Amino acid sequence: MNQDLLIRLFKSIEGDKNDDIVKVAQKIIEDENVKGHTKLAERLKGILFKNLSTHEIFNKELRTLLPNGAFIPTDKRNNIPLATSINHHDLRHEMILPDEIENKINRIEKEFSARERLASFGLKPKKKILLYGSPGCGKSMSAERIAWTIGLPFLKVRLDAIISSYLGESASNLKKLFDSLNGYPCVLLLDEFDYIAKTRGNMQDVGEMHRIVNILLNLLEDYNAPGILIATTNIEGTIDKAIFRRFDDIIEIPKPGKEEIVRLLKSTLSTIEIDTKVKLQIIAEKLENFSAALIVKVAQDAAKFSVIQGRKIVNQTDLTKAVEENRLYNSK
Ligand SMILES: Nc1ncnc2c1ncn2[C@@H]1O[C@H](COP(=O)(O)OP(=O)(O)OP(=O)(O)O)[C@@H](O)[C@H]1O
Ligand SMILES: [Mg+2]
Repeated sequence: MNQDLLIRLFKSIEGDKNDDIVKVAQKIIEDENVKGHTKLAERLKGILFKNLSTHEIFNKELRTLLPNGAFIPTDKRNNIPLATSINHHDLRHEMILPDEIENKINRIEKEFSARERLASFGLKPKKKILLYGSPGCGKSMSAERIAWTIGLPFLKVRLDAIISSYLGESASNLKKLFDSLNGYPCVLLLDEFDYIAKTRGNMQDVGEMHRIVNILLNLLEDYNAPGILIATTNIEGTIDKAIFRRFDDIIEIPKPGKEEIVRLLKSTLSTIEIDTKVKLQIIAEKLENFSAALIVKVAQDAAKFSVIQGRKIVNQTDLTKAVEENRLYNSK
């Protein structure tokens, strides 16, 4: 059915969880989820949830279903899913990395693809990966790219939903999520997982903090799901050494070097012509120490300057102006 019609229909539903109409509505949400229309399913769920009275039981029934009997649980109090999925075609995957890093990521992908051959020799692919490095250099994107290349579903843990101010619930949320995904082959991203450490100060109960870290240690230790777990952080120094030890591979995603900067500029500007007089090497020198995300933004800004002025070619002035404007955003 057409999305707008579904939304209008859902807005008119009232009643309680035992009404037939509500059960049919729940079935529609599940079907949309299975079809991969996760955004629509979330929207419908929100509308239905608002219209109903008995929230708590409803939460349990509306968890997101995945194939093979797996599901994404929600937190008990706010009905927020503990992970979100990204469709295969929305995964960012066209990355520019130094050869050394490209080879390391490529090896993870190859090992996963050869997992059965490896198993026949009693060997296992790398399954628990930690990516660290400064912001905007492709940590989260690397995780998406790995899922894209090996063709596994991609799920991102929602630490904001996991961390609860209610005693004991954060640790049990984390465990609940890992348990429910135990047999589900996917790339599971624990993005910016230092968030757990950062919330330490805000926690009313310090014991709760220890419980989460301990649960995380156990979950990492025991992780043996048929997929890959990827954690990211940009604060290498403050991560508990005990956590570091539990990963099969730890990779630093560095800021782009000169060669990568030129490739990033060229690939971002691939839809527009670059003036033959442009000296990309000189622009690249000015962009040293910029994050990849900012370099992409510089190239996009330069392209926009030229298009707005009615030109179809990016020139040196466009690029220099974009570099200067974005210098402010560059973190050291
Ligand atoms: N190596 C790369 N190759 C191509 N584009 C990149 C690369 N790294 C980053 N980008 C660009 O920067 C954007 C942000 O990247 P990403 O979200 O992966 O950064 P991050 O390292 O996870 O940053 P943060 O620490 O802030 O979460 C991407 O959407 C992409 O446009
Ligand atoms: Mg990130």
